[in-house]
Amino acid sequence: MLKSLHLKNVGPAPEMQMELAPRLNLITGDNGLGKSFLIDVAWWALTRKWPQDLNTNLTSGYGARPTEITKKSTIEFEVESKTGRVKYESTYVPDEQSWLGKAGRPWNPGLVVYALADGGFAVWDPARNYWKKKGNVDIQDRVPAYVFSSKDVWDGLRIPIDEKPTQVSNGLVADWASWIRERGEDARRMAAVLEVLAPTGGDDSLKPGESFARLSINDARDIPTIRMGYGQEVPILYASLGVRRITALAYMLSWAWREHLIASKQLGQEPSSRIVLLFDEIEAHLHPRWQRAVVPALLKVMQKLTNDEDARVQLIAATHSPLVLASVEPLFDRGQDAWFDLDFENQEVILRKRPFVRRGEVGNWLTSEAFDLGEPRSIEAEVAMREALNLCRQATPEDTDIERVNTLLQSALGDTDRFWVRWTAFRESLKAPKGKKK
Ligand SMILES: Nc1ncnc2c1ncn2[C@@H]1O[C@H](COP(=O)(O)OP(=O)(O)O)[C@@H](O)[C@H]1O
Ligand SMILES: [Mg+2]
Repeated sequence: MLKSLHLKNVGPAPEMQMELAPRLNLITGDNGLGKSFLIDVAWWALTRKWPQDLNTNLTSGYGARPTEITKKSTIEFEVESKTGRVKYESTYVPDEQSWLGKAGRPWNPGLVVYALADGGFAVWDPARNYWKKKGNVDIQDRVPAYVFSSKDVWDGLRIPIDEKPTQVSNGLVADWASWIRERGEDARRMAAVLEVLAPTGGDDSLKPGESFARLSINDARDIPTIRMGYGQEVPILYASLGVRRITALAYMLSWAWREHLIASKQLGQEPSSRIVLLFDEIEAHLHPRWQRAVVPALLKVMQKLTNDEDARVQLIAATHSPLVLASVEPLFDRGQDAWFDLDFENQEVILRKRPFVRRGEVGNWLTSEAFDLGEPRSIEAEVAMREALNLCRQATPEDTDIERVNTLLQSALGDTDRFWVRWTAFRESLKAPKGKKK
C-alpha cells in the first residue's frame, strides 16, 4: 500500500505532502486543483509507469511535468510492500524528459487497479508485472502493466509482448458471455461483485440476465444481459452509463483477480489478496442511491472477490459528491481512513488533511470545507439570503430595501424553505412598537 507522497515543483502546487491512511483515502477539491493528478502520481509510485505511456488511447494519465523546468522537481514516496516499508526519491531530468531514481523494480504492494475518469482502467499484477531479478541486475522481462482504454475494457486488449501481438484480455462482452456459459467460479465471482456494488441488494440488485442478445443479423456476438428492476433483460451494451460503469468495474476486478490466480499457480506462488484501488471521480454517472453505496461497497469487494475474510483494500478516491462523504460517516475511522482537501488560497493550491466530522444532512457537506458553497441552494437564493442577512443586521433598514429583498427571496426560495422563519421573524420585529424592539 502507498504510505506517503511528497511532491516538489511538480503539478499545480509548489509542494504537496500526503500521508495516506491504510484503508480509505478521499480527495476533494474544486475542478483543476489536482485530484486526478495526485491519483496519477499514486499509480506511478506503485508501478513506476504513467498510464498514457502504456496506452495512448487514454484521454488522461499523462506523465507528471515539472512546474518550473529550471528548478529541481522531485517526487518522493513510501510504499509498504510484502517485505516492509521502502522509501524512494525521483528527480526530473530535463535532458532525458523523464523521472529518474535508483534503478530497480517497483515494490510489491499487491494488486493495483486504477479506474480512470474517462472509463479506462489500469491494472498492475504482482504475479505478471513484477519483473525478475538475476543476481544484482533487474531484468524487465515482464509487461510493466495492463492499461485499457474505455473501449478496450469492452472489446478486449491486444498488446505486443516480445514483439508478438498478444491478447491479454478478451474484453467484458466476450469474457462475461463465456463465464456465464461455463457456469463456474468466474460467473459466480462476477455476479457476487455486481451484487456488492449495487445499492440495495435484494430484488433491486444488479443481476446478470438469463438470456443473451443479438444486436443485429450481422453481429455474431452473443451479448450478455442485465436484469433490470422492471423485469426486462437489457443487453449490457445498451445499459445506462451508470450500470456500465459499475459492470466495467466488476469485470476489471474479476478479470484482474482471475488472471492473478492463474499466473500465481503457473509460477507456484501464493496469490496476494491485497489490493490498492485508485478511483477518479468515483461517483461519475451514478444516481444518488448508487453514489451513497459505492465506497462502502468497494471496501467490502475484495472479500467477495477472493473469498478471503482477511483480504485488504486501500482505496484512494477523488470525489465531487457530498453523498460520497456523507456515505462514509458511519464507517470512517481515524486510525484507518483519511480525507484530503485541495484549496486555492492566496494564488496557491494547498493540499490538507482535514479532520473528518459527521455533518448530519448531506447539504451540510456542501457548505463544509469539502465543497465551500455559501449555501446549499441556487446562486440566486444564496445572493438573496446574503442580502437579507445584511438587512437583519441593520438597526433601521429602509422599507424599500426590505421590499426589494423580499421579492428576491420570493423568486429564489421554495415556500417551505427554513429561511422564511428567520426572515418573517425579522419583519415582525420591525412592526413591534418602538422601545420593545430589540
Ligand atoms: N501530468 C501532469 N503534470 C503536471 N501538472 C499536471 C498534470 N496533470 C494535471 N496537471 C496540473 O494540475 C491541474 C489540475 O488537474 P487535475 O488533476 O486534472 O484536476 P482535478 O482536481 O479537477 O482532477 C491542471 O490544471 C494542470 O495544471
Ligand atoms: Mg479530475
